[in-house]
Amino acid sequence: MTGSSGQLGYEWSQWLINRNLTFLSPTSTELNLSDPDRVDLYLTKTKPTFIINCAAYTKVDLAEDEIQLADTINHRAVSRVAIYSKNQQVPVIHYSTDYVFNGNVLDGSKYPNGYPIEAQGNPTGVYGETKLKGETALIRNGGDFLVIRVAWLSGRHGNNFVKTMLRLSENMDEIRVVSDQLGSPTFASDVVEVTTKLLEKKISGIRHVSSRELISWADFAAEIMKISHRDTTIKRISSNEYPTKAKRPLYSKLDCTQTESDIGEEMPDWRESLTKLLAEI
Ligand SMILES: NC(=O)c1ccc[n+]([C@@H]2O[C@H](COP(=O)([O-])OP(=O)(O)OC[C@H]3O[C@@H](n4cnc5c(N)ncnc54)[C@H](OP(=O)(O)O)[C@@H]3O)[C@@H](O)[C@H]2O)c1
Repeated sequence: MTGSSGQLGYEWSQWLINRNLTFLSPTSTELNLSDPDRVDLYLTKTKPTFIINCAAYTKVDLAEDEIQLADTINHRAVSRVAIYSKNQQVPVIHYSTDYVFNGNVLDGSKYPNGYPIEAQGNPTGVYGETKLKGETALIRNGGDFLVIRVAWLSGRHGNNFVKTMLRLSENMDEIRVVSDQLGSPTFASDVVEVTTKLLEKKISGIRHVSSRELISWADFAAEIMKISHRDTTIKRISSNEYPTKAKRPLYSKLDCTQTESDIGEEMPDWRESLTKLLAEI
């Protein structure tokens, strides 16, 4: 399993440890995905029988400058994993993102329930492009894979929006947060739980995992303040007032209907998951 120092990888490692399962979780020094030849060597040497790839280049703005590095980690290294998986008949779980889609406002009208699994990828930035190529590498290779796209991810471990809001609220009476970017929060522990349920049902291919409600980042921030009893006011601003190097999606909802049907359960409620997370951090 890769990426155990990240949000999702940490949750996966805890899940595996709690069940006394044996696994390798190389650090980025032990297995640096920026060197695809080392990926081949590592796989040949350790011969995994199941792969969970939580590692990724996730710096959305920096990716606009570090195009090669983002592509190597999110695409070329994944291609090597895909080839190993196909040749050795080893299943791969891989994670991807809402950023593979365009995220324009009109898509909100076209896909009111969220982007369906089969919607055409059309990223606006380097990060999304490299993640889409990584997905495509797994699909084209035709091995046994489960690609799970998530959005607005938060977890106990690592950096995320929830922790940033809590940190800022310690010294600020007001935080400006964009209110015209819409999506649905996803929590790392929920992603692991849903992934395991999909595996129990022997589901492969691409699936979406996110919460149901469509909210803005400002709504999310306001709820973080409310649940954690902070007095800080959330000032709603437009994306134009908060320029970023990489364009952010205005509409980020993932349609999780297929996943819900596969596991026979609704996606988790984001307020419940947020409350649980806030109690843990
Ligand atoms: N965060 C989000 O909001 C979000 C949204 C949608 C989808 N996703 C996707 O969800 C998955 C998990 O994201 P996350 O938020 O858990 O990521 P994260 O917290 O940013 O962690 C990234 C992980 O990747 C590892 N990594 C980075 N570069 C590496 C390299 N060259 N070689 C080996 N490992 C490397 C990091 O290790 P080091 O700590 O050693 O660098 C870290 O363990 C990713 O596929 C991401 O694209 C995330």
